[in-house]
Amino acid sequence: MKVCVIGTGYVGLTTGVSLAFLGHEVTCVDLDQAKVDMLRGGKCPIYEPGMEDLLAEAAQNLTFTTSYAEAVPGADVVFVAVQTPSAEDGSPDLRYLRRAAESVAQSLNHDFTVVVNKSTVPIGSGNWVDAILRDSFVQREDRPEGVEFAVASNPEFLREGNAIADTLYPDRIVIGSDNPRSLEVLNRLYRPIINQTFTPPSFLPRPEDANAVPLVSTDLASAELIKYAANAFLALKISYANEIGQLAAKVGADITEVARGMGLDQRIGSRFLQPGVGWGGSCFGKDTKALIATASEYNLDMPIVKAAREVNSRQRAIAVERLQDELRILKGRKIGLLGLAFKPNTDDLRDAPALDIANSLIARGARVKLHDPVATGRFRIEQPELAAYLSETIDDVFADCDAVVLVTEWAQYLELDWSKFVGLMRTPILLDGRHVLDADRMRRLGYRYVAVSG
Ligand code: UDX
Repeated sequence: MKVCVIGTGYVGLTTGVSLAFLGHEVTCVDLDQAKVDMLRGGKCPIYEPGMEDLLAEAAQNLTFTTSYAEAVPGADVVFVAVQTPSAEDGSPDLRYLRRAAESVAQSLNHDFTVVVNKSTVPIGSGNWVDAILRDSFVQREDRPEGVEFAVASNPEFLREGNAIADTLYPDRIVIGSDNPRSLEVLNRLYRPIINQTFTPPSFLPRPEDANAVPLVSTDLASAELIKYAANAFLALKISYANEIGQLAAKVGADITEVARGMGLDQRIGSRFLQPGVGWGGSCFGKDTKALIATASEYNLDMPIVKAAREVNSRQRAIAVERLQDELRILKGRKIGLLGLAFKPNTDDLRDAPALDIANSLIARGARVKLHDPVATGRFRIEQPELAAYLSETIDDVFADCDAVVLVTEWAQYLELDWSKFVGLMRTPILLDGRHVLDADRMRRLGYRYVAVSG
């Protein structure tokens, strides 16, 4: 099928490249010429494992352009995957979405095109985009005859760092529209994934347990709500583990054991119960905020979602309190942070716990050293105001420090020979911000090991 994708961020790029890999003819549009040039040269503007390999494998079906007029005409499906940043009041800023919809309407010329909201948009945005498309389309002087279009929602559940696997081997696909023909088109588009009939990319074999993928084909509002409800649930699952973690620390229980014991109940499930400094990233914070904002438009309170947010920001504060408990005085102390990105395998710094922790330590008079395997370049560009020192080497992070905090559980940190660094520190306090290090081993090596919960 002929597909157009507007926006080449994490969601748009992964969607476009994956669909091209499956054999669809895909054109990706981005207004940023530099990004388009990079992608044409086979380079990926974001850090995402496997993306450049998939770009190479899908190259023959893939075109990049800055022009809607080149990409939209003739497309069976147009995905809109532009950014929807949070506005001041927590509601998503839909300016980019509006502009994209207006531009799409200028170029529609096919007998039937499905315009899909792939960005995380507030409930009701499908209708809103539909109205913009229709208004802009009827105003066109060159309006062609026999052109039909409809709006659908196809929320994205991919995790950064796992984007390709999450797209090709998803738990489910959700499509929503009030127009049955759109649902048929999307059902056809995703057949290779639903039936798992494609030959896997050379670098990403099909997991042994990957079966046919369930398709949830529903109305527009339900599809839009599924996305928010799922993300908020994952966020509150983590916050619940963190809330229990605080009680575990008080009663002398081990939160890692508690989470394991809970997660083995299949009704609960073991994933997203990892305690620590909490969630960050572009989705959970924004989506929980937007859910609360939408509910308030209906005079509805969302106490559970609000609590998940409060617990999450408390975790960041608790990390600093733990250091204060150990060091008594933070002023003048040197503290190293391992990991800047909001989670491993990405260079994304949006709402990263490390930034809050660093800022709060600096505000209390500490000096902060930062290290990350991939995110330091982005850090320099995005956080010029944050007065911390960037360490190039692991030795340098530990050197002369009063405490080191593991904030992001990059594999390379877990695999370190931890015996080598304890002697470099002024006081060997090690705060495990993710509950991933072996406490007994660390203590045997001479560290004063503490964790966020316990
Ligand atoms: C998330 C959703 O998982 C995805 O479905 C959605 O479409 C986009 O938002 P992402 O933000 O890429 O994906 O990251 P995810 O892997 O979900 O992790 C989010 C945050 O939660 C990270 O900061 C991570 O460190 C933290 N986390 C995750 C925990 O603190 N504990 C856990 O058990 C799991």
